[in-house]
Amino acid sequence: MKELNGFKPEIALIVGSGLGGVAGALTKPITIPYSDIPDFPQPRVAGHAGKLLAGELGGKRLMIFSGRFHHYEGRPVSELVAPVNLADSLGAKLLIVTNAAGGINPTFNPGDLMVIEDHINFMGINPLIGGPTFIDMTTAYTPRLREKLETAAGKADIRLRRGTYLATTGPSYETPAEIKAFGWLGADAVGMSTVPEVIMARAHNMEVAGISCITNLAAGISSQKLAHVEVLEVGKIAQTKLAKLLTEFLTLL
Ligand code: HPA
Repeated sequence: MKELNGFKPEIALIVGSGLGGVAGALTKPITIPYSDIPDFPQPRVAGHAGKLLAGELGGKRLMIFSGRFHHYEGRPVSELVAPVNLADSLGAKLLIVTNAAGGINPTFNPGDLMVIEDHINFMGINPLIGGPTFIDMTTAYTPRLREKLETAAGKADIRLRRGTYLATTGPSYETPAEIKAFGWLGADAVGMSTVPEVIMARAHNMEVAGISCITNLAAGISSQKLAHVEVLEVGKIAQTKLAKLLTEFLTLL
């Protein structure tokens, strides 16, 4: 990609809704609107344009995909994983994913950050269909990186939760009965993204680190109704914490 002027990323980061704060910490980033990336999915909503940023953070060469693609927008799975494929083709060996999620684990609070230890694919889709088969997912979220996240959190004085992320397609939020069932299945948090990207990254043999920002308690965990504005508001507050954690994490790598 000529716009990158020969920049070779070591690490790719895909940030979730309203969690793009870390992008501001990049030194002298190159910014490329998604609309300028050849063969890349195009944003659907005007004024909601995604962009790719490339620069250095914590002494590492990083590319940040600010704006992710969701299945609930009606996009095919191939579009959801386009950032991962691009990162791999440019040589990135490590993928960091962040997302906003509802807390199922009753000890979680809105604003908490959770290291993703494992996931449950409840989306009914898989980006590898028609492609590579039988990819091992035993350590989808690299244990070495999970440990480094815990260390980084300790250094930055941030309380970090850990748990299993379950993904649905959305776009409706879950019912209380679904959340109760997901809890029984072993899920600590629920969201509508991330899983396809992680599966594709593992197929490319990239290492993966994942962090969920618990923006709300999932349906039925609290008696409150769910509102997207709240999810965005809590995300906005938590993104400062997330940026601090990621910066510390990158310096440890
Ligand atoms: N459910 C699903 N996705 C979410 C939630 C939730 O409660 N909060 C943020 N993303």
